[in-house]
Amino acid sequence: MQQAEAFLTTGNEEETAHIGELLGYFLSYPLVIALQGDLGTGKTVFVRGIGRGLGVEEQISSPTFVLLKIYDGRLPLYHFDFYRLSDEEETIELGFEDYLPGEGIACIEWAERLPHLLPPEHLQVRIERTGEEVDDKRCIWFDPGGTAAEKLVETFFEAVTWRTNGNLHMELPG
Ligand SMILES: Nc1ncnc2c1ncn2[C@@H]1O[C@H](COP(=O)(O)OP(=O)(O)OP(=O)(O)O)[C@@H](O)[C@H]1O
Ligand SMILES: [Mg+2]
Repeated sequence: MQQAEAFLTTGNEEETAHIGELLGYFLSYPLVIALQGDLGTGKTVFVRGIGRGLGVEEQISSPTFVLLKIYDGRLPLYHFDFYRLSDEEETIELGFEDYLPGEGIACIEWAERLPHLLPPEHLQVRIERTGEEVDDKRCIWFDPGGTAAEKLVETFFEAVTWRTNGNLHMELPG
């Protein structure tokens, strides 16, 4: 099934982290996850959740200034932020290609700044404010590139039911 784009909505930071965490439980092979969204929409919050789902114990903070942080989890988590990258040279210095996807989960904030670096097989997660600028509601879009990412999104959406009353129901993967 072509799972072109699917989305969930959240009402606060913790809910966004929770969605990331649930996705994290389903990650069992190396994958690149590109996070798109304006400044302050919740990309880092979402990755923090993924880290929880991967069993990362260390506190995850924004890699904006260091460009890459690596965490130990069930699979390693490589957390990139391209916002401050000045040019492509820097990604080479970071050893970027070794992590695409490498042995673990490569989460990249602002990947759209260097879109050609993304491998065809990746999952795009786009976070948008739904209304007023001060609103806490977010729409989280899942756009899989490639068959493995499609399968992941499909399995994830089958298991998760996000209700507008704020209750989340899911069955963990067997
Ligand atoms: N529904 C929501 N989901 C996520 N974050 C939310 C939500 N509502 C409000 N927030 C707030 O939005 C901010 C998101 O910050 P975060 O650092 O994750 O953004 P970001 O997309 O990584 O930004 P940057 O582009 O600067 O890296 C936090 O202050 C968080 O409390
Ligand atoms: Mg961030």
